[in-house]
Amino acid sequence: MSGQGLFVTFEGIDGSGKSTQARRLAEALRRQGRDVLLTREPGGSPGAEEIRRLLLEGEADRWSPETEILLFTAARRDHLERVIDPALAARRIVICDRFADSTRLYQGLRSADGRALVDRLHALMIGREPDLTLLIDMDPAEGLKRALARKSGEERFESFGADLQTRMRQGFLDLAAEFPERIARIDGARSEAQVAQDILAVVSSRLR
Ligand code: ADP
Ligand code: TYD
Repeated sequence: MSGQGLFVTFEGIDGSGKSTQARRLAEALRRQGRDVLLTREPGGSPGAEEIRRLLLEGEADRWSPETEILLFTAARRDHLERVIDPALAARRIVICDRFADSTRLYQGLRSADGRALVDRLHALMIGREPDLTLLIDMDPAEGLKRALARKSGEERFESFGADLQTRMRQGFLDLAAEFPERIARIDGARSEAQVAQDILAVVSSRLR
C-alpha cells in the first residue's frame, strides 16, 4: 500500500459467490484491525443505488445496450466520486462487489462495438482500475442454480439464461488473460471456507 489505500474488486458470473466472499474478506481484514469499506456495484452510493433499481428491475429489453452502458457508467461515476475515491484517499481498503470489468463483459459483449464503447466511456468518465481483481470462476450451470435459488427480485439479468452465463464465464477468463497483473482467478467450485482462504492469501500478499 502506497499513499493510497488498496482497491480490491470481485468479479464473476451471477451466483459465483462474490457477495459471500466480499463479506468474508472484509470480516477477515477487519479482524486484523484494518480499516475496510465494503461496497458494491451497481450501487454503493445513494444516487447509484437509485440507478441500480432502474437497471435491475423490469423487463429484459427495458433498456438498449447503449443506454445500459450509460446508466452503469453514471452509477459508477457517482459511486467513485462520493464513496470510493474518498475512502482510498483516507488509505482505507475498498472492497467492491463488481466494478468496470462487469460492464466490459455484460454490456461489452451485447453488441458488435459494445466493448469499444465501454472502454471509451470508461477512459472519459471513470479512469480508475482496481489494484487487484478477484475473479471467482465456476461452472455457469452451478452459478445460475445458486443465483436463481436466491429469489432477490433482481432477476432481470439472470433471466438472460444459461447461454449468456457460459459466454460470460469465457469472457471473464479472457479478461483475466488480458490483465494478468491485476486479475487473479480463484476456483469458486469449493466450500466457502476454502475459497475464502485462497482469497485472503492473495490479498495478504498485496498488503505486505
Ligand atoms: P454472487 O454475489 O456472485 O451472485 P452470492 O455470494 O450471492 O453470489 O452466492 C450465491 C448463492 O450461493 C448464495 O445463496 C450463497 O449462500 C451460495 N454460496 C456462495 N458461496 C458458496 C459456496 N462456496 N458453496 C455453495 N454455495 C455457496
Ligand atoms: P449483482 O447484484 O452483483 O448480481 P449477482 O449477485 O447476481 O452477481 O449484479 C446485478 C447484475 O448486474 C448482474 O447480473 C450483472 C449486472 N451488471 C452489468 O450488467 N454491468 C455492470 O457494469 C455491473 C456492475 C453489473
